[in-house]
Amino acid sequence: MNDLTPDRDERVANLKGLGCSRKRVEDARFTQGKGNYIDDISLPGMLHGDFVRSPYAHARVKSINTDAAMALDGVIAVLTAKDLEPLSLHWMPTLAGDKQMVLADGKVLFQGQEVAFVVARDRYIAADAVDLVEVEYEELPVLVDPFEALKSEVVLREDLDGQTEGAHGPRKHHNHIFTWEVGDEAGTNAVIDDADVVAEETMYYHRTHPCPLEPCGCLASMDKVNGKLTLYGTFQAPHVVRTVASLLSGIEEHNIRVVSPDIGGGFGNKVGVYPGYVCSIVASIVTGVPVKWVEDRMENLMTTAFARDYWMKGRISATREGKITGLHCHVTADHGAFDACADPTKFPAGFMNICTGSYDIPIAYLGVDGVYTNKAPGGVSYRCSFRVTEAVYFIERMIEVLAIELNMDAAELRRINFIRKEQFPYQSALGWEYDSGDYHTAWDKALAAVDYEGLRKEQAERVEAFKRGETRTLMGIGLSFFTEIVGAGPVKNCDILGMGMFDSCEIRIHPTGSAIARLGTISQGQGHATTFAQILASEIGIPADSITIEEGDTDTAPYGLGTYGSRSTPVAGAATAMAGRKIRAKAQMIAAYLLEVHDDDVEFDVDRFVVKGAPERFKTMGEIAYAAYNQAIPGVEPGLEAVSYYDPPNMTYPFGAYVCVMDIDVDTGVTDIRRFYALDDCGTRINPMVIEGQIHGGLTEALAVAMGQEIAYDDMGNVKTGTLMDFFLPTAWEVPNYETDHTVTPSPHHPIGAKGVGESPHVGGVPCFSNAVQDAFRPFGLRHTNMPHDHWRIWKTANGLGLHD
Ligand code: CDP
Repeated sequence: MNDLTPDRDERVANLKGLGCSRKRVEDARFTQGKGNYIDDISLPGMLHGDFVRSPYAHARVKSINTDAAMALDGVIAVLTAKDLEPLSLHWMPTLAGDKQMVLADGKVLFQGQEVAFVVARDRYIAADAVDLVEVEYEELPVLVDPFEALKSEVVLREDLDGQTEGAHGPRKHHNHIFTWEVGDEAGTNAVIDDADVVAEETMYYHRTHPCPLEPCGCLASMDKVNGKLTLYGTFQAPHVVRTVASLLSGIEEHNIRVVSPDIGGGFGNKVGVYPGYVCSIVASIVTGVPVKWVEDRMENLMTTAFARDYWMKGRISATREGKITGLHCHVTADHGAFDACADPTKFPAGFMNICTGSYDIPIAYLGVDGVYTNKAPGGVSYRCSFRVTEAVYFIERMIEVLAIELNMDAAELRRINFIRKEQFPYQSALGWEYDSGDYHTAWDKALAAVDYEGLRKEQAERVEAFKRGETRTLMGIGLSFFTEIVGAGPVKNCDILGMGMFDSCEIRIHPTGSAIARLGTISQGQGHATTFAQILASEIGIPADSITIEEGDTDTAPYGLGTYGSRSTPVAGAATAMAGRKIRAKAQMIAAYLLEVHDDDVEFDVDRFVVKGAPERFKTMGEIAYAAYNQAIPGVEPGLEAVSYYDPPNMTYPFGAYVCVMDIDVDTGVTDIRRFYALDDCGTRINPMVIEGQIHGGLTEALAVAMGQEIAYDDMGNVKTGTLMDFFLPTAWEVPNYETDHTVTPSPHHPIGAKGVGESPHVGGVPCFSNAVQDAFRPFGLRHTNMPHDHWRIWKTANGLGLHD
């Protein structure tokens, strides 16, 4: 008979499984400066690369003279497009089916474009040599406005001139990339034309940048003796990089090892393939020694992976009582010089067709036109799942504008139109099946928590006081209710360059009852090493503290599509649970053998299998693991390992209700966020503390985007915000106190009911901050003003409304 101490509750606590605010295991090394980032890696004989970049946004490259640079002591090579051409590497495919120059081939198309790659003994010599490369340019007319680009005779992409078919169908103009349409346009127009009330608005979601703390970089090491290329880099999808590197270089995939070490934030910036990676690989192959390239902050902001840059035109119709009847959205999408957006192949504008939001809208249409301009390529999902941020901003602004048109409270308008709990799974007019939700409960909880009625009363009093001249401060109440769509997958409709978007987990239980699990994802700060061990702890009954989580090395991890779009928990988290269940199934057979009963007579209980009805007869997972390796069990092969490749049946649809209370000084445009309340529902919560951290981070990035952050260009295509002096990155000084809250509506198809959460706060936060600004001016006639709401723009808004007279 076994000892029944510790009791069940103690055993559960000991696991630190689902629902436990387990402290982040990775922080021990991060807080002690022991992280291992790309620039910490040094290999013997390593050389350093640096780029010569174009000062012009559009120019013909007449000549490149590398003699002076080559003559500098310590310079090993200077690569230009001519050197890459024999290898067919002067252009590379983008993730969006376009192609992109690796090094300037005849002309440059955006400021900061890569023109030549200098390889030198150290970083300083490389930088000096960059200045010695002489490039003769002939300036060409610059197009930074997508509407102008679509009218202009200037051909930006001469390589595509005359090509009327693009990767996503017909091209209407030489600067046009694609048209993507979803929904019923004729039907939608008919409903809107016939409606009681119609609201129209055009809004610009400005260009911005994920700007992770650590910029992008890589270290390529070609070992000519064993023919193996090792590539260390800031990759959010290491396996995809391996496959693409193999296809591009012709090196067999088993001879390429891609390693993502610690990554200092990604937010979409580290999904794409950049010229720096290709040039480092070529330089290492040519020189036979490792070559490192790490971009600086300005290069990061100016050239890698912008986000947003969507012009969105909407029409929404409703009955006089406020029931929405139809939604029409057209987007002009500025993709810059090359279409390098990172979206699943079949979705050239990502999941923008989630723009019906959290509302039961019977008919809708979305049309998107992609356009080339003289701006950097990219188009990544900056802390969002493939353009969901744009979609949610669009619908949450349209709701506010409709509320103005209806002269109705915007909170009430939302309530009237929410998809009701009993409608899930809900089929949206633009093609998505929302898995689960309880929007009304979340909304009521949020409004009660902030005393919404009290706030509106206070706001009305403030407006009266302002009119009487007793105050110069207005008060805005920002509302937003968002539905995210995360967890791409399903393979049947989501792939990147033909690679299906499943994910994976492989588990090995060691004989003494500890374990290692490897995943196809890669954490960039999200705490996977902490939380995935918690999923496993609950599934297999081994304490999270006894489980190592490893990601990011393609030689050891199972194939997976990586971490972005909050897909890790919905896809790799599901794979982890499923692999754990395979372990448990084998453990059950072993336990039954050891306990001399039939398989069906034992059941899993926290950390052991017990004989049904006889809790004192059990085998712990530790005992079972030992037996798996050391005891001959008839019909069962030794060892305790499992792997799962998980193709999700659907995405998950987390949601949330946010309220922001903001005071605005009308005379200075200075804002003060008095209160920010965020209620999130991400289904089953794995680690509440990690979730809260994700929400704080996502809200802070939302604050940045809504209130000041942008990549702005002048008419000549010069980047005006290429340093952190001009590009707003909030610090503790600007960040308000966040109040977090939650409801729990599990995903019905995810093995543990979890939905993603990492990006929700960003998606819901941006419209909430923006709506607060706009709401403050609603009593004075404002319908809409574009972000970012920096002090100057807010002052201009107030001035335009005559509030400074
Ligand atoms: O893909 P990414 O890791 O960026 O996003 P995610 O899947 O939303 O997960 C972010 C972090 O929050 C991970 O450490 C998750 O395990 C954790 N999380 C959680 O604790 N509970 C959830 N329901 C969702 C995520």
